[in-house]
Amino acid sequence: MKTLIKNGRIVTAVDDYVADILIEDEKISVIGANLTMEADATIDAKDRLVVPGGIDAHTHMDMPFGGTTSADDFETGTRAAAHGGTTTIIDFAIQNKGDSIINALDVWHAKAQGKTAIDYAFHMIVTDMPRERLVDMKRLIDDEGVTSFKMFMAYPGVLLVDDATIFRGMSYAAEHGGLICMHAENGMVINEIVERALAAGHTAPKYHALTRPTLAEAEGANRAIALAEMAGSPVYIVHLSCYDALKKVQEARDAGIPAYAETCPQYLFLDYSYMEGEGFEGAKYVMTPPLRDKSNQEKLWTGIRMNDLQVISTDHCPFCFKDQKELGRDDFSKIPNGGPGVETRMSLIYNGGVVAGRINVNRFVEITSTAPAKIFGLFPRKGTIAVGSDADIVIFNPEKKMTLSAKTHHMNVDYNCYEGMEVQGVTETVLSRGKVIIDKQNYVGHAGDGKFQKRSLIHLK
Ligand code: URP
Ligand code: ZN
Ligand code: ZN
Repeated sequence: MKTLIKNGRIVTAVDDYVADILIEDEKISVIGANLTMEADATIDAKDRLVVPGGIDAHTHMDMPFGGTTSADDFETGTRAAAHGGTTTIIDFAIQNKGDSIINALDVWHAKAQGKTAIDYAFHMIVTDMPRERLVDMKRLIDDEGVTSFKMFMAYPGVLLVDDATIFRGMSYAAEHGGLICMHAENGMVINEIVERALAAGHTAPKYHALTRPTLAEAEGANRAIALAEMAGSPVYIVHLSCYDALKKVQEARDAGIPAYAETCPQYLFLDYSYMEGEGFEGAKYVMTPPLRDKSNQEKLWTGIRMNDLQVISTDHCPFCFKDQKELGRDDFSKIPNGGPGVETRMSLIYNGGVVAGRINVNRFVEITSTAPAKIFGLFPRKGTIAVGSDADIVIFNPEKKMTLSAKTHHMNVDYNCYEGMEVQGVTETVLSRGKVIIDKQNYVGHAGDGKFQKRSLIHLK
């Protein structure tokens, strides 16, 4: 099968030019001006950006959490991702305490197998890692293409691991080409603050944010970086939400320490005031780390511009307002943590980044696709438009506007965090390994089109 994309403005992390692209089967085979080869299908991309498919390095599909399960499974969640211009997700498989990460990986493969609209890879959430099972990490890295592991400093009794486990995991991962991704928040102190709030009768959703100070995140980031430095390993801090934590990453990077971090659209476009919505409305925005004071947002954008933040992922972890968020109606600490976002990332970042003049279009591609591909061992197969790369391509209308809404989105969740927000920049057509799966905003793919992607070793410097 040959497909020709004509007249598009090809934008990568470093290029910006008008040319044609010939795709043969799953790969890009030729890029050039005025290509005349015969093709089975031709797509006119005049006046459109032609960008590498988005890579969302942080999703939670079909994940048991907070007494329920995230509302998108691999079918609905990856279809929604495709609508939004994302062609690869890296989802978090989760180890049950005491069980092996090998078994956890099998469980996640079974959840995703035959269901996804787009390609997918896994990180592994490690909830315990005694010395004798470290070798399982090597097996995941060497044989299974799972080269990154998330550890939690938060959620005591559920996901939290102690500093010795983190240090052990970091040392071992670094030695074998793996990477530790850190949920950096001092969960023990937060628990104490939560207990105090509940004892004082503070049960409303806004107390989720009020009991998780920015300093608890900054302390976590600082500790994660110090542990990584002692272990001689890089560290990647997930869902960084605030300036206090960013300062720790900036400081480390200025000192030449390989600290990396991502933020998410919710921390760039939403703020604490959403937690104070009428009645129980604030529950929609209960996520961890919590939404912060608005003053953090421009600091995060500066971090993106200066490359102290390298990636924007979503932390897509949706729970329906009705029935699921309801679990915490009388106690904010029982509201399942997480929100939807896998579909809205590319348009939000294009609108709030490029249209608003905060970043240029190359940086837009870099933070949404190229950098996650490079950091997580998918580059150059993914994350760019180049001869030999997978033909994961988004044809993006940079002028078109749309209004984000639960009425029109494709995520399996009954609200949209950005309800009524107008954004400029819309994904119109999406190719996943050469196959059109979104055609003029309509899904034309099938469950099972997506393939598991083994990732290569990670040696960040
Ligand atoms: O609220 C969130 N972020 N839920 C998902 C779990 C996590 O910590 O990433
Ligand atoms: Zn987390
Ligand atoms: Zn997460």
